[in-house]
Amino acid sequence: MTQTLKPDLVETGAAEEEKPPAERPDPLGRATFRIWRGDRSGGGFVDYATDVAPGMVVLDAIHQIQAEQANDLAVRWNCKAGRCGSCSAEVNGEPKLMCMTRLNELPLEEPVTVEPMRAFPPVKDLVTDVSWNFRVKTRIRPFKPRPPDDPDGTWRMAQADVDRVQEFRKCIECFLCQDVCHVLRDHHLNDEFIGPRYLVHVAALEMHPLDTEDRVEDLRRAHGIGYCNITKCCTKVCPEHITITDNAIIPLKERVVDEFYDPLGRLLKVFSRRS
Ligand code: SF4
Ligand code: SF4
Ligand code: FES
Repeated sequence: MTQTLKPDLVETGAAEEEKPPAERPDPLGRATFRIWRGDRSGGGFVDYATDVAPGMVVLDAIHQIQAEQANDLAVRWNCKAGRCGSCSAEVNGEPKLMCMTRLNELPLEEPVTVEPMRAFPPVKDLVTDVSWNFRVKTRIRPFKPRPPDDPDGTWRMAQADVDRVQEFRKCIECFLCQDVCHVLRDHHLNDEFIGPRYLVHVAALEMHPLDTEDRVEDLRRAHGIGYCNITKCCTKVCPEHITITDNAIIPLKERVVDEFYDPLGRLLKVFSRRS
């Protein structure tokens, strides 16, 4: 029976062959990681020197330091594959996913600084409190589809309309775009501005071919789209390469302008509503 299985499979119930402990690859050398340690009351950078090996990413180095030198170092992560959006931090001053930042892309002759996202309150070490983002999401009017097109409960949509919103659905909610946006990071206008991540979310809803909700008034007032001055910093840091400004924010701004600042457009809308 066992012979019919592929060599890497073990028959159910059979003891798995004992494997030798995983060996760490030969180190390339040592590098220093300057990691922010602290909490809401304050903190500072602490240097840790550790071995680095081919293929390592920043999160590997953090885990190695955590295992060997600083067992109480707090770091949030989940997938180690760029999918969960948990391991966001600032590496050498740039917003990055730690699990997707390879050490061979960094100048290891200097200390690599690793600090928590600065736009959010620190909880401990590299972990920040990003709960504000989830509260913002609850303020956005949800998806409201039109009634089904056919009696069997199905809809018909043009493929081009479906494709248009597909890009926005790649968001992993890493909040790196929120972290880099100066409206939130430097001006702290969290009560007035929902930030690029949620403008992407509004765009996904507003441009959805089945959605009937109108969020244009909210965009102007409650969501503060006017604070965005299209610097494109958010687009540059998005690990999913979502074209946040050109494909989401600018079309939303155009809708606001059409609705509130184009007198001819407004008149046409009033008449079309009456007729
Ligand atoms: S383009 Fe707008 S949303 Fe994006 S970082 Fe700049 S100000 Fe913020
Ligand atoms: S839009 Fe991009 S940078 Fe912003 S939260 Fe989503 S994946 Fe992250
Ligand atoms: S651990 Fe999931 S994105 Fe980095």
